[in-house]
Amino acid sequence: MLVTGGLGGLGALLARHLVTRHGVRHLHLTGRRGADTPGAADLVRELADLGAAVTVSATDVADRRAVRDLLDRIPADRPLTAVVHAAGVVDDVTIPGLSGERLRAVLTPKVDGAWNLHVLTRDLPLDAFVLYSSVAATLGGAGQAAYTAANAFLDALAAHRAALGLPGLSLAWGLWEETTGVTAHLSAADRARIARRGLRPIAAGGGLALFDEAVFGGHDAPVLAPAPLDLRAAGAAGDVPPVLRGLVRPARRAASAGGAGEPLAARLAGLDEAGREAALLDVVRAEAAAVLDHPDPAAIPAGQALIELGLDSLTSVELRDRLGAATGLRLPATLTFDHPTPGALAAYAARELVPAGTPRPARTTPAAPGLAAIHRRLHDGGKHREAAELLLAVAPVRERFGLAERHGHAPAPVRPASGPAPVSLVCFPALSAISGPHEYARFAQAFAGERDVHVIPSPGFTGDGEEPLPDSLGTLIRMNVDALRATVGDGPFVIVGRSMGGCVAHAVAQALEDEGIFPAGIALIDSYPIDAAAQEGMEWWTGAMVGGMLERIDRFELELHDARLTTMGAYNRLFAQWRPGPVRAPILLLRALEPLPGTAVDGPRDWRAYWPVPHEVADIPGDHFTTLEEHAGSTAEAVRAFAARFGG
Ligand SMILES: NC(=O)c1ccc[n+]([C@@H]2O[C@H](COP(=O)([O-])OP(=O)(O)OC[C@H]3O[C@@H](n4cnc5c(N)ncnc54)[C@H](OP(=O)(O)O)[C@@H]3O)[C@@H](O)[C@H]2O)c1
Repeated sequence: MLVTGGLGGLGALLARHLVTRHGVRHLHLTGRRGADTPGAADLVRELADLGAAVTVSATDVADRRAVRDLLDRIPADRPLTAVVHAAGVVDDVTIPGLSGERLRAVLTPKVDGAWNLHVLTRDLPLDAFVLYSSVAATLGGAGQAAYTAANAFLDALAAHRAALGLPGLSLAWGLWEETTGVTAHLSAADRARIARRGLRPIAAGGGLALFDEAVFGGHDAPVLAPAPLDLRAAGAAGDVPPVLRGLVRPARRAASAGGAGEPLAARLAGLDEAGREAALLDVVRAEAAAVLDHPDPAAIPAGQALIELGLDSLTSVELRDRLGAATGLRLPATLTFDHPTPGALAAYAARELVPAGTPRPARTTPAAPGLAAIHRRLHDGGKHREAAELLLAVAPVRERFGLAERHGHAPAPVRPASGPAPVSLVCFPALSAISGPHEYARFAQAFAGERDVHVIPSPGFTGDGEEPLPDSLGTLIRMNVDALRATVGDGPFVIVGRSMGGCVAHAVAQALEDEGIFPAGIALIDSYPIDAAAQEGMEWWTGAMVGGMLERIDRFELELHDARLTTMGAYNRLFAQWRPGPVRAPILLLRALEPLPGTAVDGPRDWRAYWPVPHEVADIPGDHFTTLEEHAGSTAEAVRAFAARFGG
């Protein structure tokens, strides 16, 4: 028998089972690492003690020649009788972060691997050809587009083989209890999220019994799903996968969200805005607790940023969906960016759920009508300078506050990661129309349990984005310095800025040093100085950067409020004449290696990020945006290495 992925978690369980339970005496176990796989030697010894002859080989199943060589080495007097294809790789990411490279990594072991095995064994008289698929391909799975497609191919291949009269069985497994290579990345919260969707974990013994039933139980369907279900949980999750809708009745959550029994709409009807907000806060807390696996909804502080409680891109989509189901509102993809705390979410929902006939409160500052559309039209027409000038011109529409009033307008810093390492990170988001602390959510996750990561937002990026803005650069920097001093304490800290947040980071460092407070270092993530577009050979710059932002707005279905564009214009005005001055702190500029579309790669000057005062440079994978999205892990690694120089 051949088991691909046979040295992995489930492969090893099966190998033992085949030997002990079914008396298999000749086993070929493969993986790309072969004998170097941790635990391989012990497994082979154990199986040998049980009387089996085990051959281990380092074979990439996606490599047809290697698979052919492997099959050729099987002695003719002990011919191959069965194949179990359990090789697989998982790399969870939401669709916007899915790159060709990541898609390929997940597809090849399953798709190319299974096809190679199919083609090369087609003429052999096999008794069984079993494919380890996943129920994700049947039910769908958050962040698993690539994995779902890979497993759907296995299911289809089993059906294809059956149609050809060849043995073929695809097992669409649910989640096993055993932690294996493909499930090692799942946190307790992820497992809880999967359980909430109605998938009961499979214990090792139960899983092997299911294998026996599926393979030897006389079933003739080419695809079986050994995936124990908790139908009640699946119904309560609200979003029941289509294939289960005949089995599960979705709970009528919108009718009684919050658990108080009475329909939500009826409960809200008699209340004023403050009362609706309080009732909705309970709903938000209940849904957030469910998504974040928080034991006590009532203990979730109304004012705490959800990313501090562990909300990431996957769970923010789930929270948005659950709140949509609970309230009946159609909620935007930017929901938790715009309204980052439970309190802000409840206030937003209370405003949106205004009972019929009640006049909506007037907005304090009218947004410039159609600004986003005009800006987009200029951009699409290649008028990038004019688009930038438009934003500068409309900025004065915004209300301002001065230095003395800054305390009433400072957004609360958030701490999306904490841990004991001595050097903390203080991060400044960019100042584009889609900026905010969420930019650092994934980056910060890499530091969870390791060190404190603080994010200091600038005003103008929450709610409808219409809050007053600082009247001068001095006011902005002073409020950021105040926030930083209140968050970091006495330990060493590295200031991090991404894109135009690099200008904020540098200006804050200068102001701190003027006061005798010395940051350990400054890490700039693909920052260019504000006057980059005015440099010879850099005329492409504004169009490429704004193009990247608009492309993201389309792809993530973000809502672009006009006010966010006026915020962006206002900050561009504040920084227009600012240039970085000398600082004592060492500066590390992390340059994105991949150009954005529209970059003059072969232009007269190097297209990559630059900084006009002395600094070191390191190149990092990804482009201006993906360095903090799908490549956030390697960016975090570069910042970690930088922080290590200052004491860890
Ligand atoms: N665990 C679960 O809950 C679960 C649920 C549903 C489905 N499944 C499926 O069950 C199978 C086994 O998963 P597992 O949980 O045992 O994970 P695992 O411990 O990571 O085992 C997978 C094995 O596949 C091998 N592999 C990956 N790419 C390969 C390639 N190109 N050529 C040859 N071998 C390759 C890996 O070894 P190398 O890295 O050395 O190549 C690894 O040992 C997978 O197909 C998975 O999708 C698992």
